[in-house]
Amino acid sequence: MSDVDIELGHRKLAWARQHMPIHARLRERFSAQPPLQGLTVAVCSHLEAKTGVFIETLAAAGAEVVFTGSEPGSTQDDVVAALNEQPGITGFARRGADEGEFRCYHMSVLDRGPQFILDDAAELTARMAGDRPELLASLVGTCEQTTTGVRRLQAMLKDGVMDFPSYAVNDSPMKRYFDNVHGTGESTLANIAVATNLLFAGQQVVVAGYGYCGRGLAEKARGWNAQVTVTEVEPRRALEAHMNGFRVASMAEAAAYGDIFITATGNPEVIRREHFERMKDGVVLANAGHFNVEIDAAGLADMAESLEECRPGLLAHRMPDGRRLNLLAEGRLANLAAPTAMGHPAEVMDQTFATQLMAAVHLVAHRDALTPGVHAVPDAVDREVAAIKLDTLGIALDRLTQRQEAFADAWRLADIQA
Ligand code: NAI
Repeated sequence: MSDVDIELGHRKLAWARQHMPIHARLRERFSAQPPLQGLTVAVCSHLEAKTGVFIETLAAAGAEVVFTGSEPGSTQDDVVAALNEQPGITGFARRGADEGEFRCYHMSVLDRGPQFILDDAAELTARMAGDRPELLASLVGTCEQTTTGVRRLQAMLKDGVMDFPSYAVNDSPMKRYFDNVHGTGESTLANIAVATNLLFAGQQVVVAGYGYCGRGLAEKARGWNAQVTVTEVEPRRALEAHMNGFRVASMAEAAAYGDIFITATGNPEVIRREHFERMKDGVVLANAGHFNVEIDAAGLADMAESLEECRPGLLAHRMPDGRRLNLLAEGRLANLAAPTAMGHPAEVMDQTFATQLMAAVHLVAHRDALTPGVHAVPDAVDREVAAIKLDTLGIALDRLTQRQEAFADAWRLADIQA
């Protein structure tokens, strides 16, 4: 750690802080009455400056914070070092840690006996349940911010090992409508553009999946003047894409004419051999969905005669017939694993992490009323985060009048007409 530039870590945190106004409001609010006082809270996430501001705010809420990475490739050592200089915060992580070291860091966090976990893909929660099950007895709860994590928790519940409540922050409107749509959309396109140094305008962009992420990707690619095709497996989503003005096609059709392919489905092998066989020379393949599984990278490598890193993070697969198919970041998340990647923009993470934080505070306050299992974040919590954000933007809201409120609650015709 000796050559780590701690000063740079502090500057990165300062920049993120400037663009995370909800967290600033929460730090102010918590200074009077810290709601997490006396609790050891573990954070497992991508460790960079925005997560750092989240960690600082948890400490301001009174928690003793221990943190570790959810993915060794995304850890920024300077930010980790800058956080470790702050009172009430202890982190265990190093960029590029191998599997054994990565596990040791997680175990060091668990050794502190966290009573609450703010998790990514349920990594730390699953490790606690698997390796240190005796700690589950003092676990008050968890908050989970990924689709994968929510699924894992549900699997844990089914297997009878989930004896604590968890809020599915991933499923809350404040996460999905902004993080998945705008965060994934903007950061993925930005990284493809920088990694390839190619134009979007006029290109045939194929987006696989028209869920929250897919909608953002498709809309933003259209905003960059690309011609966008959507592929889907769900008829209503396909129809929605069609009525929103996108071309809808099967991957088999789109493979033949696409220039840039972006997957966001959560499913494996969405683009595979039968599609690679039909693709044009020079296509770009990027994934914005689940880990590294949506593009069959192994199948592609197997079909290739030779591989060449044509630009950092971009691997050209030369086919026996001379076509080059360019895979970005080994098919890992383009907005997190590409060489230029910095994850989602700060404003989006301000909202996502604030929802995590407010959900954690709510869960701790209502721990006795919650049954073990995965729960939706209470609507009031989600709305409050939105209201704080609007307030920081100086955007005013109208309020329902008494008559409007009464109208909404009425069912008798006489009352409705009154
Ligand atoms: P979602 O469930 O709203 O959308 C997924 C869509 O893909 C659905 O409409 C589904 O019908 C469709 N789909 C499934 N299999 C398909 C196939 N073989 N071909 C075409 N379409 C298919 O999920 P959401 O929120 O859009 O997330 C998608 C993935 O992106 C998840 O794995 C999630 O974890 C990941 N994600 C990635 C982020 C990032 O930073 N890159 C941020 C947020 C989510």
